[in-house]
Amino acid sequence: MGLSTREIMDASLDLVGWDDVPADSTIYVPGERIETALVGIDLESPELQLAAREGYDLALAHHPAGGRARLEFPRVLDRQVEFLTDHGVPEPEAEEAVAELVERAELASHAANYRHDPSVAELLEQPYMNVHLAPDEVGRRAFVDVAEGLDDEATVGELVDGLSAIPELAAARTDVEVRVGREENAAGEVAIHHAAGTNGGAPVARAYFENGVDTVIYIHAGADDPRKLREEFGDGNLVVTGHVASDAIGMNALIDALEERGVDCTPISGCGIGRED
Ligand SMILES: [Fe+2]
Ligand SMILES: [Fe+2]
Repeated sequence: MGLSTREIMDASLDLVGWDDVPADSTIYVPGERIETALVGIDLESPELQLAAREGYDLALAHHPAGGRARLEFPRVLDRQVEFLTDHGVPEPEAEEAVAELVERAELASHAANYRHDPSVAELLEQPYMNVHLAPDEVGRRAFVDVAEGLDDEATVGELVDGLSAIPELAAARTDVEVRVGREENAAGEVAIHHAAGTNGGAPVARAYFENGVDTVIYIHAGADDPRKLREEFGDGNLVVTGHVASDAIGMNALIDALEERGVDCTPISGCGIGRED
């Protein structure tokens, strides 16, 4: 009875048909025969103590919390370049747009206390893992479906309405926001820049706008990025869907898959938003 942490990792990959565990996802403390899981977007030391105290067989987080997922996180940023080149940004320009982000991520990974949360889980003997890129890919595909369902003349406002109808985004207390541009603008060519580790900041949005993309979708944006882009681009649109709501899309899909296989999941920390039992 129950699943192993490895089987749960595989279940996350099966959601999107992938074979390899992404660099930002890992098992910190393995477990077997898992029948109950505390599932959250952020599960760190305090939540691990909660999981142990309440007797959960597994603490299952979305965001990387240490170990390989923290140290090797910059590797998933390769997808930033992939998404840019898919929209016609020349590879050297794409690499350059992402260079600062990659350097910052490498410095941050190198500096991080990659042992903190995993070591707490070890001490508690609490099975603990995180799955990041694969659930985000589920969310990305949900956004792609919305964008592909629009007609050629659709406005940014219609794109926002379509995104806002995704159950997690509809249920969340955050709205889908147009941070650069206007709802009346044509959505035009839409780039969904999600499931690439993190958002691309102003440089990535700039590279899209300079290469014929009209609308960029991020799930979150840095505090200064929209202002920088507004100053430079009169006609680009940046739509920000909302971080927790967007992360919940893939995590809810994983919860559904685990529940189907007999793992009783308790969602906290943003997971479960907009999910129907
Ligand atoms: Fe995410
Ligand atoms: Fe996230």
